Amino acid sequence: MPSKVSCLYLLTVVCWASALWYLSGSRPSTSYTGQMAIVPIRRNTPKTTNRNSTFSNVHTRPLNPHAFEFLINEPNKCETKRSPPFLIILISTTHKEFDARQAIRETWGDESIFGEDVRVVTLFLLGTNTDPVLNQMVAQESQIFHDIIVEDFIDSYHNLTLKTLMGMRWVATFCPQAHYVMKTDSDIFVNMDNLVYNLLKPSSKPRRRYFTGYVINGGPIRDVRSKWYMPRDLYPDSKYPPFCSGTGYIFSADVADLIYKTSLHTRLLHLEDVYVGLCLRKLGIHPFQNSGFNHWKMAYSLCRYRRVVTVHQISPEEMHRIWNDMTSKKHLKC
Ligand SMILES: *[C@@H]1O[C@H](CO)[C@@H](O)[C@H](O)[C@H]1NC(C)=O
Ligand SMILES: *[C@@H]1O[C@H](CO)[C@@H](O)[C@H](O)[C@H]1NC(C)=O
Repeated sequence: MPSKVSCLYLLTVVCWASALWYLSGSRPSTSYTGQMAIVPIRRNTPKTTNRNSTFSNVHTRPLNPHAFEFLINEPNKCETKRSPPFLIILISTTHKEFDARQAIRETWGDESIFGEDVRVVTLFLLGTNTDPVLNQMVAQESQIFHDIIVEDFIDSYHNLTLKTLMGMRWVATFCPQAHYVMKTDSDIFVNMDNLVYNLLKPSSKPRRRYFTGYVINGGPIRDVRSKWYMPRDLYPDSKYPPFCSGTGYIFSADVADLIYKTSLHTRLLHLEDVYVGLCLRKLGIHPFQNSGFNHWKMAYSLCRYRRVVTVHQISPEEMHRIWNDMTSKKHLKC
């Protein structure tokens, strides 16, 4: 039973951990320079300009048309086998994180982890890099593993929301029959047994309009030096709707289409998780708090990691070490 004091303490720890994480420079550099020679973006300009901007009116010109095209796609990934995927894992990544992607493929992101009983589909999300060599390397990696999707927006920290929306769009378009979707990052450890068998439960009826993760109730930071700075003209309110930390959240697959469609009429914000929270509020979907989602780092211990769903800030080396330890000690009791 959490008291007010312990809640406050937890909040302080979370804030510091997040701040340290950002300061640690573990995030990819966001300084992109140079010009890109990419396919011109096709805009969905409506034939008539409708001044009536009721957001439920689908004929209104989209505020945020997401007029991007897939440069690398896996349109048949979902349909190659008989049963629909139980879980689609969307992992936000950057071009240079080759090691992180490989570590995930070889550990918790392995699509054959539960065999044919519980189908898992893993996809890495990328935009277009300003360095053509990196785009080429990713294209080659994609031809080997067939687990990367790329749209033609510029890949940058400020465009993370576009990356998430690309993932939502992919699920809604190419795999609406999936049961659940997880969106996470490339430096997250996921306890798949816990996630699949204790939280989502393949034997139960799939939920609808379900959304869970580490729920944050906060407001915009107006300090321009902050990584989470939110200009007043972009978001005037003093509070955000409840949102799940972008380090890892889970939702029923129907929500992908709902969020994607809502996003077309919702002004884009660069804070990906806040933006998804805004879409959820419009949809009347309330995110559930789940204590298994840790959006800060947590020292490894077998028994502690058995209880979690996600842990943040795990390097590719640690991911292998943790995975090997946990799989070799499945018989041990805690
Ligand atoms: C806008 O459209 C809605 C539904 O189409 C309608 O009910 C409303 O009266 C319209 N408002 C204006 C100002 O035209
Ligand atoms: C985000 O992507 C769009 C489309 O490619 C691009 O015009 C814009 O400059 C990008 N924003 C940033 C901050 O990189």
